[in-house]
Amino acid sequence: MARWMDDRPAFAALGGRAPEAVFGALKTPCYVIDEGRLRRNGELLASVAGHTGCRILLAQKAFSNYDLYPLLSEYLAGTEASGLFEARLGAEEMPGREVHVFCAAYRDDEFDELLQYADHIVFNSAAQLKRFGRRAKDAGRSVGLRINPECSTQQGHAIYDPCAPGSRLGVTRAAWDRELTAEWIGLLDGLHFHTLCEQDADALEKTLHAVEAGFGDALPRMKWLNMGGGHHITRPGYDVALLERLLTGARDRWGVQVYLEPGEAVALNAGYLVSRVLDVVENGGTRVAILDASAACHMPDVLEMPYTPPLYGAGEASALPHAYRLAGPTCLSGDVIGNYGFPGPLAVGDMLVFGDMAIYTTCKNNTFNGMPLPDIHRMSPSGALVRLTDFGYRNFKARLGR
Ligand SMILES: Cc1ncc(COP(=O)(O)O)c(C=O)c1O
Repeated sequence: MARWMDDRPAFAALGGRAPEAVFGALKTPCYVIDEGRLRRNGELLASVAGHTGCRILLAQKAFSNYDLYPLLSEYLAGTEASGLFEARLGAEEMPGREVHVFCAAYRDDEFDELLQYADHIVFNSAAQLKRFGRRAKDAGRSVGLRINPECSTQQGHAIYDPCAPGSRLGVTRAAWDRELTAEWIGLLDGLHFHTLCEQDADALEKTLHAVEAGFGDALPRMKWLNMGGGHHITRPGYDVALLERLLTGARDRWGVQVYLEPGEAVALNAGYLVSRVLDVVENGGTRVAILDASAACHMPDVLEMPYTPPLYGAGEASALPHAYRLAGPTCLSGDVIGNYGFPGPLAVGDMLVFGDMAIYTTCKNNTFNGMPLPDIHRMSPSGALVRLTDFGYRNFKARLGR
């Protein structure tokens, strides 16, 4: 998937200004989180919640820059965590709001502490429910089970498809029938499914049919139904009206409190990675600009998804006169961000700004090759920049030993 050009919403906040004018004072590479975009995403999500009665949580795996949690808490019901640390972060930094946790397998030595932070605990298997469910219930927590509706709605993306054959994620109907007695089902307050990735509401509609076919008998006994993440609600063109019909339909049919826990949709197009050109080399007709930002370290989804991130002022390599491959400074041959076209030649020192860099970046980066962690800044709607971090050698070293 290629996402291109500076007229996309990824760069709307820059208003066509030159990157140097906006970010010229910042040490690169660095991330900039755009408060205005976060707010617009929050407003849309809050309006969906208002129209449908659903509650929307921030999936912290996608975005966990907690300095922005007070802003997001104006729009969201709470946070979703993947384990102890995220649950603690959500409880500490969005105080008084809901904390839901789903983990493929909980640890015995962490579970009591987890119960201090999380109010909704979702189990991934019948065995985990049997092992920990009563402890959660006795502590007054709401207990859920992740189901696997066995309904793939995405092609060619098995790594992001929890319904792919052999998936470990969620209880299939066959496992439910085989492993759960009425007593265990009676312990459940809710069901959870997460099957989508960057998808529109039509994929949710298809999934809900599969959920009804597989688990429709169990749902009326539940208090809540969590429809996971992967809903690209804040992407331009997303069918919000259909989503709202589906959410109210589920609420009315099964009498459940509906939850959504998007990550991407909360912080979509709400961040930049600002970098500079360190060198330009040429090999067999390919001109390669080596940047101070790395795909492998600073935008790992570019390699894992893979995708080509939008770049301010650039276009497709074939569409503009000057084509360059942009690459990182690490030893990895494949530390390549993508091929882009530019209106003029690139020179050492030029600033390049990647878009949609708030999600799955700051919470997923690393210091491979001793690359420094890029500092993180927040940008107010007036354009004022505030540095949130002060990363340096100590952060690299602290992860490696005493
Ligand atoms: C259980 C669960 N919930 C929510 C999310 C957030 O998904 P997204 O960021 O695509 O909205 C994920 C992502 O993997 C997930 O696994």
